[in-house]
Amino acid sequence: MGLPLVLDFLAIFMCLSVRRVSSSPPNFILLFADDLGFGDLGCYGHPNSLTPNLDKLAAKGLRFTDFYVTSPVCSPSRASILTGRYQTRSGIYPGVLYPGSRGGLPLNETTIAEVLKPLGYNTAIMGKWHLGVGLNGTYLPTRQGFDSYLGIPYSHDMGPCHNLTCFPPDVKCFGFCDRGVVTVPLMHNEVIIQQPVDFLNLETAYSNFATTFIRDSAQKGQPFFLYYPSHHTHYPQFAGPRAAGKSRRGPFGDALLELDSTVGHIVHTLKETGVLNNTLIFFTADNGPELMRMSRGGNAGLMKCGKGTTYEGGMREPAIAYWHDRITPGVTHELASSLDILPTFAMLAGTRPPKAALDGVDMSSILFQGGPSQREAMFYYPTDPSEKYGVFAVRLGKYKAHFYTRGATHSDTTPDHDCHMTAFLKEHDPPLLFDLEADPSENYSLSPDEHPEVEWVLQRMQRLRDDFQASMVFGESQVGRGSDPALEPCCTPSCNPKPDCCRC
Ligand SMILES: *[C@@H]1O[C@H](CO)[C@@H](O)[C@H](O)[C@H]1NC(C)=O
Ligand SMILES: *[C@@H]1O[C@H](CO)[C@@H](O)[C@H](O)[C@H]1NC(C)=O
Ligand SMILES: *[C@@H]1O[C@H](CO)[C@@H](O)[C@H](O)[C@H]1NC(C)=O
Ligand SMILES: *[C@@H]1O[C@H](CO)[C@@H](O)[C@H](O)[C@H]1NC(C)=O
Ligand SMILES: *[C@@H]1O[C@H](CO)[C@@H](O)[C@H](O)[C@H]1NC(C)=O
Repeated sequence: MGLPLVLDFLAIFMCLSVRRVSSSPPNFILLFADDLGFGDLGCYGHPNSLTPNLDKLAAKGLRFTDFYVTSPVCSPSRASILTGRYQTRSGIYPGVLYPGSRGGLPLNETTIAEVLKPLGYNTAIMGKWHLGVGLNGTYLPTRQGFDSYLGIPYSHDMGPCHNLTCFPPDVKCFGFCDRGVVTVPLMHNEVIIQQPVDFLNLETAYSNFATTFIRDSAQKGQPFFLYYPSHHTHYPQFAGPRAAGKSRRGPFGDALLELDSTVGHIVHTLKETGVLNNTLIFFTADNGPELMRMSRGGNAGLMKCGKGTTYEGGMREPAIAYWHDRITPGVTHELASSLDILPTFAMLAGTRPPKAALDGVDMSSILFQGGPSQREAMFYYPTDPSEKYGVFAVRLGKYKAHFYTRGATHSDTTPDHDCHMTAFLKEHDPPLLFDLEADPSENYSLSPDEHPEVEWVLQRMQRLRDDFQASMVFGESQVGRGSDPALEPCCTPSCNPKPDCCRC
């Protein structure tokens, strides 16, 4: 090779490395609240919530009005946000996983962490995993692309937490948790470090974990992905000493305030370490509010019903995207979903999404150009999806068609009887059609007789649904594999008698 050629190569090489340094891949923080309704945040209109840090992200970032999750309950919604695929494909249905579940998110599913890992990302998760534990931790996050984990691997009411105190600190919280299972464990990676978990200091532990993780990554100059599926604001609501009694909404408001304070600590640490400019923060929640807890539960705002239902209150969620100087502050009415996070992160990190059948689309046009959304439709699966019934509802443009409706125990006790457990499965032929822009509360269905102009919309929705269902391959039900008490996480595995002896 002649000298000029070598110099050319050198020049190209230097150009490439300079470009790589100047546009280092962005960091991602994904925040996922639990059973939080469309109307629960201050920035979504709740008059008495105290969410100053989330409100600030919304004011300086992009707030979504039409953002959907894929399920009105926890585990399936969590499977979808991490894989960009409907839960029916990964088998995370019906309902949710339990401490002794044999199943979990199949290991051949590609999570966001696994998409980013090969690019050199540092990956961590803290909080409520709820995608399985399994035999010897088969399904823990450390087996799905996360370098480190601190958290309770399922819901914090899935164990005897009847001694949990609320406010004042010596007063018992309202309600009961599950009995006859092991007490709630706190895991670090694959090891139980506390059982039962110290609930009142849990948020502080998470906050410290996040701070250390961000500092370490920033110090090493390593791009990072932090996923925080919070246990707040799931039942039973509680807060540690710094937030208990500090909101105007009782234990729910305190729990939300505590979650919000961790958001504040995360943003502060990003600023302090100088990486805020290169970090996309995304916030949303797994499903609608658990209305059966009455005034102690969450609030769907003006959306109909809540958790467990395919009405808007069950699956339309608050969502905020914040990226300093990159995302123009505002409000977007574009259609988007938790399914779209994986393809968007992949694109921003400079890689391709996994080859498996994806249901998510890249939403960067919404984030950076004000739209339009690449998402054409949203499909609403019930808590127990089946090939027999298929999707219960479809959203296309401003219209939503319900093919089936059903109430849910989780949404009992509301004034609207359509939400209740006693509102049994009902088929609608023709489908119940609503204009969600004029009528977001789904109060006034449009009858084709009075609105002949919507006939073509219904036909298109039916075709979309048929095409979607024809392409849907149901994965083996992981919840259907059942539970085995021997699989419940126990820090003293050979103790006797179980489950009470599992403490350390
Ligand atoms: C994972 O494996 C199962 C069982 O072999 C298969 O049905 C499924 O399609 C696979 N999933 C992916 C994403 O490859
Ligand atoms: C699970 O762990 C136990 C104890 O460490 C061990 O005896 C057993 O062989 C493991 N089982 C499997 C399937 O790896
Ligand atoms: C609850 O408190 C009682 C009395 O202090 C104690 O005996 C019991 O073990 C506690 N239960 C749990 C699950 O911590
Ligand atoms: C972000 O970048 C801008 C300009 O590049 C700079 O002025 C600002 O200080 C940075 N902010 C942080 C928090 O790093
Ligand atoms: C409309 O829907 C909301 C939310 O479900 C409900 O509270 C309200 O009573 C309904 N209004 C009418 C007129 O039906």
